[in-house]
Amino acid sequence: MAWSLAVIVASAALARVLFARRTLIQPQERADSLSEVRHADGVDLDSGAGLLHRLTRVDAARGWEVFATDDERLRRDLSYDADETLAPQVKAYPALPTLMLPRELPTTGMSATAALAGVSVASQPLDAYQLGRLLFLGAGVVRTSQRRGRTWFFRAAGSAGGRFPLEVYASTKGVDGVPDGVHWYDPVEHALRQVGPPATGEATTLVATGVPWRTGQKYAERGWRHLYWDAGTLTSQLVTTANSAGLDPRLRTLFPDREVGELVGVDGVHEFPLLLLSFGDRPPAVEPSGPSTRGVLPEIEFPLVTAAQHSGDRDFLGDPWPPGAPLPSVPDSEPLEQVVLRRGSQRRMIRSATMPREKLDWPMRAALRGIDVPHWVAVHGVDGVAPGVYRWPDLDTPVRTGDLRDLLIHVAMDQPLAGEAAYVAIAAIHSGNLDDRGYREAQLAAGMVEGRLHLAAYALGVTATGMTFYDSEVPGLLGQSDDLIGLLFSCVGVAEYRSTPGGGPGSPASVRVITPRLPDDE
Ligand SMILES: Cc1cc2nc3c(=O)[nH]c(=O)nc-3n(C[C@H](O)[C@H](O)[C@H](O)COP(=O)(O)O)c2cc1C
Repeated sequence: MAWSLAVIVASAALARVLFARRTLIQPQERADSLSEVRHADGVDLDSGAGLLHRLTRVDAARGWEVFATDDERLRRDLSYDADETLAPQVKAYPALPTLMLPRELPTTGMSATAALAGVSVASQPLDAYQLGRLLFLGAGVVRTSQRRGRTWFFRAAGSAGGRFPLEVYASTKGVDGVPDGVHWYDPVEHALRQVGPPATGEATTLVATGVPWRTGQKYAERGWRHLYWDAGTLTSQLVTTANSAGLDPRLRTLFPDREVGELVGVDGVHEFPLLLLSFGDRPPAVEPSGPSTRGVLPEIEFPLVTAAQHSGDRDFLGDPWPPGAPLPSVPDSEPLEQVVLRRGSQRRMIRSATMPREKLDWPMRAALRGIDVPHWVAVHGVDGVAPGVYRWPDLDTPVRTGDLRDLLIHVAMDQPLAGEAAYVAIAAIHSGNLDDRGYREAQLAAGMVEGRLHLAAYALGVTATGMTFYDSEVPGLLGQSDDLIGLLFSCVGVAEYRSTPGGGPGSPASVRVITPRLPDDE
């Protein structure tokens, strides 16, 4: 690595002390930019989030198995992706007070593009209908498919590898038709199951949690990154849906982790909280007023993941993320609900097709509203933009030029979609700009950009898919130093087929999964 580890570790330790004092003694004001809430300490690659990142780094020269090193901090005693150890796709609970949410979703009539652009709209009351709409368009089961002798659930927002390792809880306050309390969202039945008494605090707040084994059963410890990617796609749909109903969503990633874990009844090992999303500017209802019921999960721990997660724990509530300025232009599109139900991950794109530049410009601007995690764009087939790599938003000065389709395929773990796309958005950040908590936030921000870019692409009649990559190849692709951490790729292109739209609450569409082309099919 091209930096002095000793300097970073020392400065990170000092900065952590300074930051801790600052945040504990100063009142928090709403930040103008995400960088103000990310804490530029430099992530330590020998502990916590940094160590997990380093040990789960995939090197092209060695392939996916690279992080199967003999480092004893990685678990190598598990059967990965074996039928007998597949985790349940949703959590199980003993009998709990249950409220079936209305299966009829209220419509707002707002176009997907207006909601993504942040156009303000009169506020709807947050009642059982609106809460159900939010939860369903973020986390509901919209499609199913039969594979390996079981029914697989596909949720409204995308998930790396289709593992859907997240749970969503609602801590409700004054929601008409829903008792105050802490409820687990059952995405299959579209129901709320009350796990705990009403919290202290005022604003109804959603808590998203991650279940490491559900993604780790395929991706091992690297799945910790996927929790935050997926939390990003979930958040993008929750926030956009809330915008469309004027619900004033407030995303927080700084919160007292242990307390919020207690609120929703999770143990901090097999499941832990990732983010809070509250509505309106009153204090979020997140302080537990009594014990919550714990659900049933497979008790399989990745100690490295537990350590990475807790290295970023905090004991105070931070500011919400900046919502980002509304976009001045709003192209026409279908209503948000229809775009969410049409959204899927496109498995095959038409490599020879190009798209107009506005299908790059507008989706990227909508996706990056309020987010300052650096992005690059690899352009293959956009009218008026020469093929090459650009540092967004500067599309006039390429970082490198030429037909990079084959290179992108290789960097994206030899997946042809990265060469079939018209462009590939790439989130990446220098490790010196992160600490353990900032690492989580950067992964989440990259997931949010993927989620919003995906919705914007579908709204404008093109298509998209999230994409992973060889960590070792990202700095070279973007012409950056080796300390650049690749976060996430999003491929946007012209569809080779149309996916079956998702169904409504309790009636998901049954689909046959289409597989991507293999490298040899090219
Ligand atoms: C963060 C993220 C990373 C993904 N990475 C890949 C990938 O590397 N290759 C791929 O073919 N699909 C990838 N996908 C697409 C998922 O496989 C897809 O979201 C999942 O199977 C659910 O299907 P759906 O999006 O159609 O609902 C990714 C999706 C997300 C959200």
